[in-house]
Amino acid sequence: MAVTLLTINDMKRYYEMVSGTVKALDGVDLEVKEGERIILLGPSGSGKTTLLNCVAALDNPTEGTYSFEGISVPRDAPEKMTTFRRDNIGYVFQFFNLLQDLTVLENILLIQELSGGRDEKRARELLALVGLEDEVNRFPTEISGGQQQRVAIARSLAKSPKLLLGDELTGNLDSKTSAMVMEVLVKACEAEGITTIFVTHDESLAKYATRVIRLDSGKVISDEKV
Ligand SMILES: Nc1ncnc2c1ncn2[C@@H]1O[C@H](COP(=O)(O)OP(=O)(O)O)[C@@H](O)[C@H]1O
Ligand SMILES: [Mg+2]
Repeated sequence: MAVTLLTINDMKRYYEMVSGTVKALDGVDLEVKEGERIILLGPSGSGKTTLLNCVAALDNPTEGTYSFEGISVPRDAPEKMTTFRRDNIGYVFQFFNLLQDLTVLENILLIQELSGGRDEKRARELLALVGLEDEVNRFPTEISGGQQQRVAIARSLAKSPKLLLGDELTGNLDSKTSAMVMEVLVKACEAEGITTIFVTHDESLAKYATRVIRLDSGKVISDEKV
């Protein structure tokens, strides 16, 4: 029996606007088991980013409960939320946000230094895992967009997160490069035993998941194992 990693019950995230209440999340229930690879699909504005940000404790839900490894996730407490994120969550964005003045290897070493300790052997292993063993001494401007995103993936894995989140992480890549990045990502997360939730509006990415959840108007409209 797989172990439960996180449980969300009746999560709501409302924005009070002059024009009225925007229900970005409108009562989401979600249980995620260790080892699952979830793709969260839905049209623009359906609440995908909001849900991911609440899962990462980057945002405060208006209502509902959220526990991670059986412990209630902090909210309205920026320092505790930062600690929770640092200890548990990796995040990959659409834009790679690599430091341009550092080499590929140095980008990984820096993150290690910020989150516990430099370990060059492990940094090189992670870069090999995403197929970049020959690019370690290049600068971000000297490699392709797909390769830059693979550096960002290696960087997100460097602190061995329990949960890796991705928001439209192939949104800036062509379809062939997207496929390669997703394949590398699946392989790396399986090798590292990391649970993942990836948000996208790209239906073609569903094939990389073990579970596909569809969101519309802030509600889960389907949830299927694949
Ligand atoms: N900071 C905000 N203020 C007001 N409304 C917001 C804010 N962030 C998101 N929303 C609204 O919440 C809804 C869900 O947004 P979002 O989670 O970004 O959707 P998605 O990622 O699926 O495109 C949208 O209607 C959006 O306009
Ligand atoms: Mg979004």
